[in-house]
Amino acid sequence: MTTRCLVSISDYSKEEIIEVLQSASEFEKNPNQRLLEGKVVASLFFEPSTRTRLSFETAINRLGGRIIGFADASSSSVQKGETLKDTIKMVDNYCDLIVMRHPVEGAARYASEVAKHPVINAGDGANQHPSQTMLDLYSIYKTQGSLENLNICMVGDLKYGRTVHSLLQAMSHFHPVFHFVAPKELRMPDEYKIYLDELGIPYYEHTELSEQVMNIADILYMTRVQKERFADLLEYEKVKNVYILKNSMLNGTKDNLRILHPLPRVGEIDVDVDDNPKAYYFEQARNGVFARQAIICKSLGIK
Ligand code: CP
Repeated sequence: MTTRCLVSISDYSKEEIIEVLQSASEFEKNPNQRLLEGKVVASLFFEPSTRTRLSFETAINRLGGRIIGFADASSSSVQKGETLKDTIKMVDNYCDLIVMRHPVEGAARYASEVAKHPVINAGDGANQHPSQTMLDLYSIYKTQGSLENLNICMVGDLKYGRTVHSLLQAMSHFHPVFHFVAPKELRMPDEYKIYLDELGIPYYEHTELSEQVMNIADILYMTRVQKERFADLLEYEKVKNVYILKNSMLNGTKDNLRILHPLPRVGEIDVDVDDNPKAYYFEQARNGVFARQAIICKSLGIK
């Protein structure tokens, strides 16, 4: 049985991404299977979470596994000064798989080097959120019927938003055209633009969420401005409400357009969008259970 970490979305090849999406589709048809009987999964959340933690826990419960861990590191011996290395070495003694969210970029890679059991990155700082990407891809595939040749419009905090970084890398396998809509302070970091340049993938940068951009999009991927990553809250105040999507802005958009958001939202999508059939963010979060069931099984080498 081969086990596998998922620390960065680039840990999966294109073929593996497709394999996990197929597996997610099977889990959606039949989510209750006892594939994790006798397995213990550690869920270590050093940062707040609703969707990621609870959808991982739902995935594990539906597969018959057991969960240990914490939702708040202040209830662990981290509070007494225990290092991440020691915490991981201890937890690794007790479980078969570690799911970890941590505020420090690279913490998940470090944990994967310390642990004998596989590690799934549930978000590390502004770096990566690969399990979110798998549910995003699954949502895009379900709504568009394909991942190929799509116009993907990413809006908001493209600097600190880890979900857009992982999604950009994953979508790069499927001939996308990207539109990045962000204020200059929150532009897509150069490393990701260089990555696209090297692959010859087109991208366009905008500061306005204009009608022109909205009307060519197949996927409008809205993001929250990540207040917790700002060193200076005055800088956050300047950009926090820079884009607010309203229902009236969707009038000329394509029929197949779907609005995604990793959530939580804090105002960047007006509630008047929620009843529009193009709003897909709540279904997107539901897809997280099936995508995470597929990732867990792949990580543990369970067919
Ligand atoms: N999408 C996401 O990571 O949400 P949570 O922070 O609630 O887990």
